[in-house]
Amino acid sequence: MQVFQGIDLFSGAGGLSLGAIDAGIDVKVAIDKNSFAASTYHHNLPEVKMINSDIKNIDIEKVRHHIDQKLVLFGGPPCQGFSVSNSRTRNFKNPNNWLYKEFIRFIEHLNPEWVVIENVSGIKETEGGVFFDNILHELNILGFQVFYALLNASDYGVPQKRNRFFIVANRIGLEYNFPHKIKKRITVSEAIEDLPLVGNGNTIDQLRYSKNEQVSEYAKLLRNSAQSCSNNLVTRNSETIITRYKHVPQGGNWQNIPKELMQNYADRNRCHTGIYHRLLANQPSKVIGNFRKNMLIHPFEDRGLSVREAARLQSFPDRYIFQGSIGYQQQQVADAVPPLLAKKVFEEILNLDGNLE
Ligand SMILES: C[S@@+](CC[C@H](N)C(=O)[O-])C[C@H]1O[C@@H](n2cnc3c(N)ncnc32)[C@H](O)[C@@H]1O
Repeated sequence: MQVFQGIDLFSGAGGLSLGAIDAGIDVKVAIDKNSFAASTYHHNLPEVKMINSDIKNIDIEKVRHHIDQKLVLFGGPPCQGFSVSNSRTRNFKNPNNWLYKEFIRFIEHLNPEWVVIENVSGIKETEGGVFFDNILHELNILGFQVFYALLNASDYGVPQKRNRFFIVANRIGLEYNFPHKIKKRITVSEAIEDLPLVGNGNTIDQLRYSKNEQVSEYAKLLRNSAQSCSNNLVTRNSETIITRYKHVPQGGNWQNIPKELMQNYADRNRCHTGIYHRLLANQPSKVIGNFRKNMLIHPFEDRGLSVREAARLQSFPDRYIFQGSIGYQQQQVADAVPPLLAKKVFEEILNLDGNLE
């Protein structure tokens, strides 16, 4: 049986790639222009050829020779420009919203059997759906049958309520079915309670786990046989912010903070519910997004999440090490597709294709 090979466009730190590899795809090439994301990718997945470049400058002929089997071309073009929470640049003028054309350029040149495009559901409505319609139209012209769905990561074993929109297409006439949901939802406690004890502003990267007995199945899976883990960094918040945290119960947000402590928020009505949200220990987490905008609070401690806690909530294994300063690490984790969710989406492709052999 032929193996599937993969190419990851806009790979970031490699969440989607890790899921593809875990599903059984031999990922050959990844492209991303951010040097810190590229460095994380290369550090963790050294067998893949990582090209740290703007995709617009890539000569596809130089990529082609890496592929000699059936190809799955996949990737998540930048999604901020399609996100409903972004009213400022959610439009035609945002150059990032046109990067899907690069995806089409790669499809035209490499003629993959399968294509997987990941984004936010807002892509369907942005500018009246023109971007989404264009993608479907281009794929149809190139002979692809297209399937799409909005998946919530918490339905697939990831301890986070994160919606991701997937377009899966093939040019070999197969009907793709999205993975079945699993009933059990993993909670924040199960995901992070064995991680090292850290305080506000922790700068010590590598620390021992706080708990080795009665560790959840989820945590066991991600820590494997390690005794310690890295990326335990926590943003240093000022005393003013820590004082605000103390007023927020689990599941609460900025609305629980007394008005007199929120004086620098000129217009409190413009705060969204994600600001100063303290995670519920017994449920999947809220979306791990940009740390500076979202300010998620640890369920039991008066501090933000460490990078490793956020990575656990995204289903990255502890051996996956993020590079760059804390801000870059947080961004890479927040940008990623949860590897466990990605794995399920890719497994359905392999199952389908395997059944035909
Ligand atoms: C949403 S993130 C991808 C996350 C990734 N799929 C994962 O699962 O970890 C989008 C990525 O696109 C990259 N990017 C944006 N514009 C690019 C361009 N013109 N060329 C190459 N990469 C670009 C960004 O650096 C960012 O890492």
